[in-house]
Amino acid sequence: MLQVASITLMQQTKSIRDIQINNKKILIRVDFNVPMDKDFNISDDTRIREAIPTINYCIDNNPHSIVLVSHLGRPKGKSQEFSLKHILKRLERLLDKNVAFADSIKSAQTLQDTLPKGGVILLENIRFYEGEEQNSPELSQSLASLCDVYINDAFGTSHRAHSSTYGIASFAKEKVAGLLLKKEIDSFAKALANPLKPVLLIVGGSKVSSKLELLINILDVVDKIIIGGAMSNTFLKALGYDMQASLTEDALLADATKILALAKTKGVKIYLPVDVVSTDDIKNHTHIKITPAQDIPSGHMAVDIGPASTKLFAQVVHSSQTIIWNGPLGVYEISQFSRGTFNIAHSIADTYAFSLIGGGDTADAIEKAGERDNMSFISTGGGASLELLEGKILPAFEVLDKKADFIQP
Ligand code: 3PG
Repeated sequence: MLQVASITLMQQTKSIRDIQINNKKILIRVDFNVPMDKDFNISDDTRIREAIPTINYCIDNNPHSIVLVSHLGRPKGKSQEFSLKHILKRLERLLDKNVAFADSIKSAQTLQDTLPKGGVILLENIRFYEGEEQNSPELSQSLASLCDVYINDAFGTSHRAHSSTYGIASFAKEKVAGLLLKKEIDSFAKALANPLKPVLLIVGGSKVSSKLELLINILDVVDKIIIGGAMSNTFLKALGYDMQASLTEDALLADATKILALAKTKGVKIYLPVDVVSTDDIKNHTHIKITPAQDIPSGHMAVDIGPASTKLFAQVVHSSQTIIWNGPLGVYEISQFSRGTFNIAHSIADTYAFSLIGGGDTADAIEKAGERDNMSFISTGGGASLELLEGKILPAFEVLDKKADFIQP
């Protein structure tokens, strides 16, 4: 099976616990791409917090110096708006240590030579360098010149083959995974490679197209799939329902039918909403109706699963031992349409199942539902977790050193 083979392969990566840190120049690729408001207040610092154990592990093992490299947002060239200076104070607070800021690779080099031993340096947004996203060999080499050991702990960016996540490894002497990278891959392995059965996938979000590959690949791993969100509209339409003004992807109706048939052949049960919450105006939502999925009023669009679906889905959740969730079941950002998503979060929280939550919107919805502490594992990666569920080998893992007992498949 695709998922199992690629996850097992990624688990063979060497980690910081397998190498010596003492007196070495360390470079850690972290993912400090955190959400901020217009005044640069960090609204969720989870990604910074999750990188702290690896940074502290290195500090405790007596390094020559530590350079932290991250991107922030998707800047087009240099711009203060995307400067990593905005996260410096939070980082210092979480590390309980001063961190020097380097505007450029050159100034990081100078700081490495001048700071007292064990100094921590934060490099400015690596995406200010044009070569980063092109995986430029020059930039990769110049980053590698900052270190004896390259550590990747940026799970959220591990699906990108950029200079700081991929190219650098060709020039670094030692290249290993940080503790977060390990924790993420081991959690995905628990859910995908060696799960307690039955395994349930809950999938939502707006587009079938963005999860088509996932749905096809995961049929070999899971026993049941709940489909919600706008994605389910396309499936319901493929079954012949009149979805009225709901968002559907008509070009994918044949794919939806194919997935339903394939699931049947593989013995995977698929659960679609039996009722929906709908409105004729998503902005003002003056008219809101709850109806069977077959009876959406004319001109209305489905925006959440209904109460009957919530009850039925809760039963499916309660009869599962492993639950993987990627994508909200409705427009959860609007309180009137958040109930389905929040209730599923509460149902998962009520089980003893191993629950693995894909990052991005799903993590945000769980936070808003107040259930963050009741999930087994919430990934720090949105796009990266999606690619793992699709059965891909993430580029960042591909280039790291493998353990001695590693067997090339
Ligand atoms: C993320 O937020 O998903 C990661 O930090 C990757 O960011 P990117 O999608 O801009 O590469």
